Amino acid sequence: MKINERFLELKDSYLFAKVGQKTAEYRAAHPEKKVIKLSIGDVTRPLAPAVVRAMQKAVGEMSQKETFKGYGPDRYCYGYASLLESIKGSYRRKNVALSSDEIFISDGAKSDLGNILDLFAQDNLVLVPDPVYPVYVDTNIMGGRRIVYADATEENGFLPMPDERIKADLIYICSPNNPTGAAYTCEQLKVWVDYALKRNAVILYDAAYEYFIEEDGLARSIYEVEGARECAIEFCSFSKTAGFTGVRCGYTVVPKELVRSGASLNRLWARRQSTKFNGVSYISQMGAAAVFTEEGEREIRENIGYYKRNAERIAKMLRDLNLFYTGGKNSPYLWLKCPKGMDSWGFFDYLLENANVVGTPGSGFGKNGDGFFRLTAFGDADETEEACARIKKLFI
Ligand code: MLT
Repeated sequence: MKINERFLELKDSYLFAKVGQKTAEYRAAHPEKKVIKLSIGDVTRPLAPAVVRAMQKAVGEMSQKETFKGYGPDRYCYGYASLLESIKGSYRRKNVALSSDEIFISDGAKSDLGNILDLFAQDNLVLVPDPVYPVYVDTNIMGGRRIVYADATEENGFLPMPDERIKADLIYICSPNNPTGAAYTCEQLKVWVDYALKRNAVILYDAAYEYFIEEDGLARSIYEVEGARECAIEFCSFSKTAGFTGVRCGYTVVPKELVRSGASLNRLWARRQSTKFNGVSYISQMGAAAVFTEEGEREIRENIGYYKRNAERIAKMLRDLNLFYTGGKNSPYLWLKCPKGMDSWGFFDYLLENANVVGTPGSGFGKNGDGFFRLTAFGDADETEEACARIKKLFI
């Protein structure tokens, strides 16, 4: 018996687990202190009333013999028609037409971003931006793939563009980006799409933060770009859009035109999902279907507005302290340069001990993140205000 030794190449803990552990240790040692968490991007607003009503109705249906549901529909990899229709409607508003069998309902973007790698051979070269959501890197290390990095720096506005010298086969793009908050325009994404098409590569496009985009010209879906249906898979989630981190529901789009080595990736993914996955609960799916109704959309926009006001509070504090930052506008994350030349974990400890505020060290997202720090706008408004006041007092 042999283990997958690639696991031994991983850092000993997942970034957010390490942050959580350090926070728990500090709390245990200082029970009298009120620690404020602006670290993991976890939502704090309750579910929208339209979503709650839809879920309550679904619970009622599950309690009656006549309306009870077991496994979801086989035909669409367990996705219910009402949810698929509402997702198609949300894409139509972005001028993107999808068919129901191109949409795969999942329990969230993170799982699918990891699971999709089942479709690709081990000897593909993987291009990942640095800094980046650690899941892309860790899952490829587990799979034994070679990774090259596209540097996202202050100089390129944290939006790297393709380098023709790199012969990438799988390309990860996250826009609006976690952790930097930077978002690509459709014109910029077109350059990536052209690069992928030329190389016969596949783009894995993480659109989990799409609902935070407010500026015109920024892409809300990679399929707004011509040619993307031939080269891109898009991962979406209700977690950040509609507060589903504790409910679990997401969706992945695999267009029919996406064919590699003569095989339809849509067919391969359907085969993979029907073998290794049994779908998302009916109750979660019905809640998710309510998100894109007129009422649901209005209500989730109110919650997003609440987080955006938090982002503006944090941004103002950073401006008052004259600290360089990006994000916070089309994204729930603010990406700042640590003051006084501190490194990321040094700043983490300093902030935890002196302001009792927890953030996420930039170096946890890659080498280019060193000297940077991420704060999330997903917290409670009063706590965010208090955290800002504490940080300001420390550095003014
Ligand atoms: C984050 O803080 O980066 C996110 O919460 C991670 C995630 O969504 O898995």
